[in-house]
Amino acid sequence: MPHISASLLAANYACLGQEVRRAERAGADSFHFDMMDGHYVPNLALAPDHLTALRPHTRLPFHVHLELSNPDEVLDKFQPMQADLIIVCRDTLPAPSRTLARIRALGMRAGLSLNPDEPLDAARDYLSEIDLLLILGVFPGFGGQLMQPGTLEKITQARQALRSLSLGVPIAVDGGVNPQTAPGLVKAGADILIIGTALFRASRISRAVAQFKALAST
Ligand code: DX5
Ligand code: ZN
Repeated sequence: MPHISASLLAANYACLGQEVRRAERAGADSFHFDMMDGHYVPNLALAPDHLTALRPHTRLPFHVHLELSNPDEVLDKFQPMQADLIIVCRDTLPAPSRTLARIRALGMRAGLSLNPDEPLDAARDYLSEIDLLLILGVFPGFGGQLMQPGTLEKITQARQALRSLSLGVPIAVDGGVNPQTAPGLVKAGADILIIGTALFRASRISRAVAQFKALAST
């Protein structure tokens, strides 16, 4: 059964506390916070203060996706009491091993994300140093985009690479996940579906979560 991480980028910002409770009741497994700087991506979104404000509203884990140019400079804004996983973009890291080790030293789990135009090879050297590999299905910056071609193949490759190294690192897919794309992604080896639009803009979020949860891997 895939883990469903609800991406708050698509939630109603006028009532985020209610949105978090609504998604938890519907069966989501974690929350995904995209933090954007208007520099690495052409958009601004979410901040550590959102973690603080929303932490009392749910017991589910918070996953932070740093879509910003200088992750090394902001890591100390995060605490394990708030976020249990920090995901950094491979192409923002001058020294990936150092950043990943720092996240873990701060008491959190470390994830690495690859943009649609980055090959799996960009992450290969770090597979034994991460707790999650995130394959972006869209160029980061906005929700509601269509999934880029090649996403499925990259997940298949990642699954094979992790298997051949006997690593149990979960694979997450983020961006463009919807009822049409999800079945193939799960079959290809995605363990975690990060979903914004197709959850928060669904007519019934509980039905949407149940549909995604019913997908089986091969
Ligand atoms: C894109 C973000 C995604 C986004 C996915 O920059 O990393 O987490 O919220 O949104 P949907 O599910 O709408 O494609
Ligand atoms: Zn994200």
